[in-house]
Amino acid sequence: MTTPPVGIHDLSFATTHYALDHALLADRLGVDPNKFYLGIGQETMSVAAADEDIVTIAAAAAQPIIDRHGVDHIRTVLLATESGVDQSKSAGLYLHPLIGLPNTARVVELKQACYGGTAGLQFAAGLIARDPSQRVLVIATDIAKYELDTPGEPTQGAAAVAMLVSANPAILRLEPHSGLYSADIMDFWRPNYRTAALVDGKTSVNAYQKATQEAWTDYRRHGGRDLGEFAAFCYHQPFTRMAFKAHRHLLESQGFTADTAAIDAAIRHTTSYNRTVGNSYTASLYLGLVSLLDHADDLTDQPIAFISYGSGSVAEFFSGTLQPGYHDHLRTDANRSAVTTRVPLGYDRYRELHEARTPTDGRYHAIPEETTRPFRLAAISGHKRIYESR
Ligand code: CAA
Repeated sequence: MTTPPVGIHDLSFATTHYALDHALLADRLGVDPNKFYLGIGQETMSVAAADEDIVTIAAAAAQPIIDRHGVDHIRTVLLATESGVDQSKSAGLYLHPLIGLPNTARVVELKQACYGGTAGLQFAAGLIARDPSQRVLVIATDIAKYELDTPGEPTQGAAAVAMLVSANPAILRLEPHSGLYSADIMDFWRPNYRTAALVDGKTSVNAYQKATQEAWTDYRRHGGRDLGEFAAFCYHQPFTRMAFKAHRHLLESQGFTADTAAIDAAIRHTTSYNRTVGNSYTASLYLGLVSLLDHADDLTDQPIAFISYGSGSVAEFFSGTLQPGYHDHLRTDANRSAVTTRVPLGYDRYRELHEARTPTDGRYHAIPEETTRPFRLAAISGHKRIYESR
């Protein structure tokens, strides 16, 4: 029996109600804005309103997929996040009623820092290889948060990317080769008692580059393509300049000349949305794919490289090919609008939102209405999160 191709059949992105301009942050921190624009490659970052979280943006990302394809054949929902709302219950179950997911599906949350979305995609491919009639909904959703007034602060952000994974996909066929690299390293982590991540910034940048090189070596060892074959490279983007650094490192490690023009050509279209959304942890790599598809000329039949990195750390280098007619399945207008319709956030309100804490007393707490996006967190009562859709 020949196995049909497996990959991404549909993909959709959502972000938060607010955006904070990096010029505002630079001014308040007394930093040259070019450090953010050029040094880390960020212009604005998405910030969640008081009534938004990883569930509301995940639901907003997944809803258009359900509207287009229905829920038939969805037997598994894999939600990847590293900013989860519950230590036990999968966030996928909170959004289950919001978007009408079927009861006849397994719903699980995955965690390994920013790598979780790739784990979801690869696990989905395995399930579909076993039974090609099934579809898997993979949702990567995160709100990236560092302490105020720390070097990590300008690299915050938020987004969710939902992917319908199926046999005979309409957008991207996954290729079978994969390169892996895992190592225990304390570059970025968040103990259960903290709301903001801890990070050793320089160590994390070096760890990302080393992991990219090691995963590439493993990809080649397992029969993957030559570096020169790829039409574009989608990197995990904690900040967009990181994609530049990692690609330069990869080219140099393989003996290629890493001139700026060659690096820009390889990554340019993958960074447009991340530059204005910021880090979205598990979703960031896939937001890079959305950006590439929305901005590049026709890539039909072209191989694309994916480099997934999750601190701690796990990396994977894998590849996929864009399918004939993929353009007809994109959501370019909706994606652009998700970014351009965000409301500019004032600095004082940004700090208030950043420092707000979830009530822990079990009483009823209504959450003031703030977001204009399709789903919101309406209240917390009896330690339960209560969501509503518009
Ligand atoms: N004009 C132009 N460029 C400027 C500038 C100016 N006025 N001022 C500074 N720069 C440049 C610097 O030269 C530097 O460039 P290089 O990296 O090419 O040397 C760049 O701006 C950054 O400056 P610093 O190194 O001084 O920045 P920093 O110490 O304040 O912090 C950071 C940088 C370590 C990335 C910090 O933002 C951070 O800790 N971020 C969070 C961790 C992170 O994102 N790590 C990435 C790998 S881990 C990962 O990928 C997982 C994940 O999602 C977290």
